[in-house]
Amino acid sequence: MKKRTYKFSNSSTDYYLAYGISHLKELVDQRNSVIITDENVFGYHEKRFKNWNVIVIMPGEEYKIQSTVDAVIEELVAVQADRKTTLIGVGGGVVTDITGYAASIYMRGINFGFVPTTLLSMVDASIGGKNGIDVGVYKNLVGTVRQPSFILHDLIFLNSLPQAEWVNGFAEIIKHACIKDAAMFRDLEAGSLKKYQGRKISVCKLIQRNAILKTKVVQQDEFEKGGRRLLNFGHTLGHALENQYELSHGQAISIGMAYASVISEKITGFKEADRVARLLLKYNLPTFTQFDKQKVFDVLKMDKKRERKVINYVLLEKIGRGVVEAIPLDRLEKIFQDL
Ligand code: GLY
Repeated sequence: MKKRTYKFSNSSTDYYLAYGISHLKELVDQRNSVIITDENVFGYHEKRFKNWNVIVIMPGEEYKIQSTVDAVIEELVAVQADRKTTLIGVGGGVVTDITGYAASIYMRGINFGFVPTTLLSMVDASIGGKNGIDVGVYKNLVGTVRQPSFILHDLIFLNSLPQAEWVNGFAEIIKHACIKDAAMFRDLEAGSLKKYQGRKISVCKLIQRNAILKTKVVQQDEFEKGGRRLLNFGHTLGHALENQYELSHGQAISIGMAYASVISEKITGFKEADRVARLLLKYNLPTFTQFDKQKVFDVLKMDKKRERKVINYVLLEKIGRGVVEAIPLDRLEKIFQDL
């Protein structure tokens, strides 16, 4: 696939989908670039990093914190990175967030690009320009919105992807289908994890469809004043659960989507919460579970989608059509208690 350029409000990003990391040196000046990756990706793919400056961070959401950014900045200083340096995040969502955030603040902003290596980061985390870190249990509380100059996909990285990471990626794919793409929802119902994993062409097409779907949503509302909020389907409850219960992002938002579908039945008249839950289960994702509602609600109140006493909750009107409902916190609390 050729390069495609997508414009955002004050920048643009070149997409090289289904490309190959060996082409990276044609996109940047190798001597003045620094790759940030994690121990897992580096361990499996060390030979692909030959002749690059590399910073290796610890893998996992628990390292998406300020101290990791501080360590990266110290290493950038040590290699005398300057305003012409390009940072390249090669990894999953933690690596791309840390890279985008560090690049946004180092010397008040240097160029960066992403090579997402997980399904979830290919279809979601590397796209959209939000780059940030967690603070305690609060996910992505601190960060920036700044678009990468390029995104390059190399599906070779999926060969080393653990099963749990495939499942994680499908949570975001199902989210896209729920809010925007009823036809993809039906394709996913007809398919299965095993089928996609066994067919490179289907997974490649699915990745591109999702990457482009998200990109178009972001293009229309980069700073999340309206339509971009739909991408938060499942994330309000999901984020509140994720760090408190040490769930993966996919598991957390899957539970969030299952409950948001039930809440939709109460508020928008949505009629297919069972169908959403069935699809999530089909892709080995969790749906309804026990959790301490008060404790989770207390974290949820700090969500970035809250505006004073109202929270913008993403619900479904039908499969393929998400809506944002401004729900007063006290009403939401009551809905939660009754779930
Ligand atoms: N980096 C993920 C997003 O902007 O949505």
